[in-house]
Amino acid sequence: MLDKKPVLLSGIQPSGHLCIGNYLGALKNWKALQNSYDSIFLVVDMHAITVKQNPAELRQRCLAYVAQYIACGIDPEKSLIVIQSHVPQHAELMWVLNSITYMGELGRMTQFKDKSKKYEANINAGLFTYPVLMASDILIYQADLVPVGADQKQHLELARDLAGRFNTQYSDTFVLPEPYIPKTGARIMSLQEPDKKMSKSDINLNNLIAILDSPNTIRKKIKRAVTDSGSEIKIEESRPGISNLITLYSLLTEKSIDKVENQFEGKMYSDFKAELGEVIVDFLKPIQEKYNDIIQDKKYLEDVLKNGADEAYYRARKTLTKVYRKVGFISKK
Ligand code: TRP
Repeated sequence: MLDKKPVLLSGIQPSGHLCIGNYLGALKNWKALQNSYDSIFLVVDMHAITVKQNPAELRQRCLAYVAQYIACGIDPEKSLIVIQSHVPQHAELMWVLNSITYMGELGRMTQFKDKSKKYEANINAGLFTYPVLMASDILIYQADLVPVGADQKQHLELARDLAGRFNTQYSDTFVLPEPYIPKTGARIMSLQEPDKKMSKSDINLNNLIAILDSPNTIRKKIKRAVTDSGSEIKIEESRPGISNLITLYSLLTEKSIDKVENQFEGKMYSDFKAELGEVIVDFLKPIQEKYNDIIQDKKYLEDVLKNGADEAYYRARKTLTKVYRKVGFISKK
């Protein structure tokens, strides 16, 4: 089939609980972009094992992520949903890319430095070469556009550098991927520590609203969210807590910040929080319902993943064959 649309690729690590921050910062964009791009969305289980995982939970979480991708609007009829470990070429290409990546480049990666501090007892080689696997995820499908959060920009630059380096050393092979960094409006902050990004892997679950949180949990978490001294419902740099909640309200209701501020003029924090809680509950309700249907339909999930893996395998093999030939490997007859 001739498909001339540019290739878009992104992925999320199956660790922690997919949260409203992931929805607004990633999945919502993916859903919109999938109509104009030939899209591939990965669940990067191979990246996830660079920190300790419980195998049974990881298995369960990978399926839950796929079901949540679909429930959030990723349409398997339009986009490929792929479990990274189902396509062996990711790891195979990584080996080749490892050989043109400098230790110094990897040592400079801020995420590696951060994670080395966080997981001091397990600074493994996978954590170090993590960005090479990510480059491989992108380059193996000749992706043109890669939506990522600002924290992944450095990794994406490495992917571009490696693509360029391979092309220069061997001959033109890889597309140089462009980053797609969503505007700051979509950056949702932690509920208890609003100077940090809301993270799905946060151990303090009160910091995040999970896509699958129950209505009462959502209400409770919003009620307890840190707000700043003062009483006005107004966005201000010096008041990151209330500003974050207003941003959330505005994004979920698609009302402008001005409109939200006007709507709550003279109201109390508690009134606003109660309404925000309901907005989130209502917003997530259809997503959760869809999720519950899908997660029970194992046959459907298997079909989606088989289709994704088969198509991805075909494309990945095409790239890898080219790469192996260029570096001087003899093809198997
Ligand atoms: N490293 C990314 C993150 O933690 C996840 C990821 C892995 C990814 N491979 C990718 C993102 C390829 C985009 C493209 O967010």
